[in-house]
Amino acid sequence: MAYQIKVNGTDHSVDADEDTPLLWVLRDWLHLTGTKFGCGIARCGACTVHMDGQPLRSCTLPISAVGTSEITTIEAVEGPEAKAVQDAWVAHDVPQCGYCQSGQVMSAVALLREVPKPNDRDIDLAMNGNICRCATYVRIRAAIHAASEKLGG
Ligand code: FES
Ligand code: FES
Repeated sequence: MAYQIKVNGTDHSVDADEDTPLLWVLRDWLHLTGTKFGCGIARCGACTVHMDGQPLRSCTLPISAVGTSEITTIEAVEGPEAKAVQDAWVAHDVPQCGYCQSGQVMSAVALLREVPKPNDRDIDLAMNGNICRCATYVRIRAAIHAASEKLGG
């Protein structure tokens, strides 16, 4: 069946089974491979995208449930929070292998849009579902604080 979805500001028609996870539509149909597969059961956060601005695990959302919501991926996330997070990620040399990092960035951007000056507990709660096998958590937390300060939070 053909589904009309809006991704990164562009309308797409996707011919897929109704239960096809959004993650695979992004990666295999639209070739947006910055969003990663980790667990497939909404437990690791590697597949995090924004749906109408809210962080969402794309591995468990079927294409049939996207509807008219706007999807944003790591390839197109923008705005002051995204810029501040990306700059802080570089300044703090956050990634190690990098596999989890697009999901980490998407969650961090969503957090700073909701909570401009998060404390450690806010950060831990918001980032709790984003697993990093390289254990970059200390640098992630520091980078989020730095991004918040840059934004004047
Ligand atoms: S791949 Fe989606 S949460 Fe792990
Ligand atoms: S940087 Fe390697 S899994 Fe997070």
